[in-house]
Amino acid sequence: MAKGIVSAIDVGTTKIATIVAHVRSRDDIEVLGVGVVPSHGLHKGIVVNMDEAKEAIATSIQEAQKISGTRVDTVYVGVTGRHISSINNKGVVAIPRADRLVRADDLQRVLAASRNVAVPEGKKLLHAIPRYYTLDGEERVKQPVGMHGTRLDVETHIITASVSSVQNLVKVIRSIGVQVQDLVLEPLASGEAVLTSQERESGIIMADLGGGTTDIAVFKDGDIYHTAILPVAGYQITSDIAIGLGLPFHVAERMKKTYGNVTPGLDAGREQELTGIENGHTASYRELCDIVRSRLEELFELILLELPTTDYQRLAPCGLVLTGGTANLGGLVELGKDQLKMPVRRGAPLGSGVYGITDTIRDSAYATTLGLVLWQARSRERSAWTGTRSNMFGGLGKLLRKLFRG
Ligand SMILES: Nc1ncnc2c1ncn2[C@@H]1O[C@H](COP(=O)(O)OP(=O)(O)OP(=O)(O)O)[C@@H](O)[C@H]1O
Ligand SMILES: [Mg+2]
Repeated sequence: MAKGIVSAIDVGTTKIATIVAHVRSRDDIEVLGVGVVPSHGLHKGIVVNMDEAKEAIATSIQEAQKISGTRVDTVYVGVTGRHISSINNKGVVAIPRADRLVRADDLQRVLAASRNVAVPEGKKLLHAIPRYYTLDGEERVKQPVGMHGTRLDVETHIITASVSSVQNLVKVIRSIGVQVQDLVLEPLASGEAVLTSQERESGIIMADLGGGTTDIAVFKDGDIYHTAILPVAGYQITSDIAIGLGLPFHVAERMKKTYGNVTPGLDAGREQELTGIENGHTASYRELCDIVRSRLEELFELILLELPTTDYQRLAPCGLVLTGGTANLGGLVELGKDQLKMPVRRGAPLGSGVYGITDTIRDSAYATTLGLVLWQARSRERSAWTGTRSNMFGGLGKLLRKLFRG
């Protein structure tokens, strides 16, 4: 692929989206094409049918190639699923030289010390993202090289994933003849697309309400602080409507998207009978909205339970940003504010500096898709100051090469 061209695949539960973009810098990204197809063979971030997944991913890649006029041969891939876990760990080293000047190799040593955690059987440390450094316990710094001190500390966000889950996804993509350049945790990608740098600095919770998973990421002090994946999202809302109102799943899905509204106190026409959506199926508007609301209230509760503390005000003074396809539900933001008593907003994935073929990715369902490209652009900046390779999942890259050798 030509220099600066980045391709990424967002392998969702309901859709697979391949994006091709020309990344000139973090603030200059031209989207050349997006190929979207319904997802098959995947469930909650896990491959459940290799052949179906292969066909769906291949079609999405072909579509993106056609629109962009660019051949896709290496891709960044989003990973998600209940198998992902994360912790923050600390590392500390002494600066042994007389001049007490921090050098790049000190950074490498302290990062290695912070990566030293026990990884459970069947899991692999994907990567360690340095959040901040301190010198002699003083103020937090982002880039300590060139500064003076006797002791260097780092706090690092460590993410682990199930080896077999990742292996299956990579195997499917390689079987299409496309190489996986790197894997990016999906909530990190979505965060790139919908949050401002001020929000990340002060502290914010992001929840990507997708089809099969709700991906949660808390950002603080400018970087990732906590990640969690819930196996509940839009699919379960539709499924509850289908069961509760005795409708086929696809009719329940259309009813939800067309009429679902959870605005607190909304009463206009609530006794209305919804008809004509498809082949004579009917439903009560009130019942439909009540089901959607109770599912969402439950989901908001679950999001809070996944947070590392109950002091939400201190953790995330900027509140909650909701994105993903399910964030399109009417009244969701108002319901969130009412229930959670914190600032809530909807996050759409288009910021300044992103242009080109962007019609598709304006919808919040594409936060991860665009975010994968933005992550790649930001990881270049990050590697420039950590002195590490640009691959976020560098450790995993090595593991994959070992697993697929021969
Ligand atoms: N206008 C809408 N109103 C309500 N729900 C919507 C709307 N548009 C999309 N959705 C829901 O969003 C979900 C799909 O969201 P998204 O595309 O973010 O998921 P995904 O990336 O495929 O899945 P995941 O990230 O969970 O693996 C579906 O459950 C769909 O019903
Ligand atoms: Mg998604």
